[in-house]
Amino acid sequence: LTKRDVVRKIIGSLRLPRRDEGEGYANTNLALCKYWGKRDEELNLPATSSLSVSLTGFGSRTRVSVREGRDRVELNGKPVPPASAFARRLQDFLDLFRPEPSVGFVVQTENQMPTGAGLASSASGFASLVLALNDLFGWGLTGRELSILARLGSGSASRSVYDGFVIWHAGSSSDGMDSYAEPLSHRWPELRVGVLIVRAETKGIGSREGMRRTARSSPYYTSWLEKCRGDLDLLLGAIASRDFAVLGRVSESNALAMHAAALAAWPPVLYLRGASLGGVQKVWRLRGEGHPVYFSMDAGPNLKLLFLDRLSERIRAEFPGVRIVRPFPD
Ligand code: PMV
Repeated sequence: LTKRDVVRKIIGSLRLPRRDEGEGYANTNLALCKYWGKRDEELNLPATSSLSVSLTGFGSRTRVSVREGRDRVELNGKPVPPASAFARRLQDFLDLFRPEPSVGFVVQTENQMPTGAGLASSASGFASLVLALNDLFGWGLTGRELSILARLGSGSASRSVYDGFVIWHAGSSSDGMDSYAEPLSHRWPELRVGVLIVRAETKGIGSREGMRRTARSSPYYTSWLEKCRGDLDLLLGAIASRDFAVLGRVSESNALAMHAAALAAWPPVLYLRGASLGGVQKVWRLRGEGHPVYFSMDAGPNLKLLFLDRLSERIRAEFPGVRIVRPFPD
């Protein structure tokens, strides 16, 4: 099955939009139980289910319209060169929704991360684009359908369709119609996520390639998948009972296991930098002093801290420049 087959199943035949412009906003998300390995590369179907929390205020707003001719892509007000990897990935995705070959899209995305955060995110980007397309074409899709379409752009985007805690079901069908995200009803107003920006001097390995290498060659890949299944249950329990120690411990250990599996691949996949490790050691020192703070990290050098509101002042003092996110604003 191809992405096009899935789009046809969800939307039916493609028609020209009735409106001039569509708009969508989506927050990026932090996976507490991570997606790292695919059961289907074409459809971005994950090997395991994953769980995230959306990062309020770290998102993308996308406006989309159609015109005759080639696509035009703008990121934060600046035109993106059509030959760049970013524009090509977007054009490939837009091809799925082109009613006629002569139709071009104008896509304007503003990443609403605090300035200079260095957190360009495919999760919020593709989720906001799908919401904008739904608005433009007036498809009236359900959350489940929007999540599936966002997944075709980037796996983690399937979870960014929602705020709060979100579970993405791995599913088992070959067309992936049972692989979509769903929000949990639980809120946790005191929960905080600290985003620590670590600048990398070199561009890292993309998540697609990182996953591929891990699945093909890491001796720990199978145990990583097994661990994910157990971690997901532990995290769901921790969220339901608001047990922060379990939430923090399982999230941190899940992130470390993902990075360990990736590191053991060949060629090796290492996302951490020296400064990331400095942050890790600081978190462990703080915990040693009795402060409940944990970390997570994704396919890049940035560190995300997990803690409760009462530790905010201490975290600000220990990590100058940290951006503190409230995933459950009042
Ligand atoms: O959605 P992708 O293909 O960029 O992969 C995301 C991978 C991680 O961010 C490391 C984990 C996750 O579940 O978000």
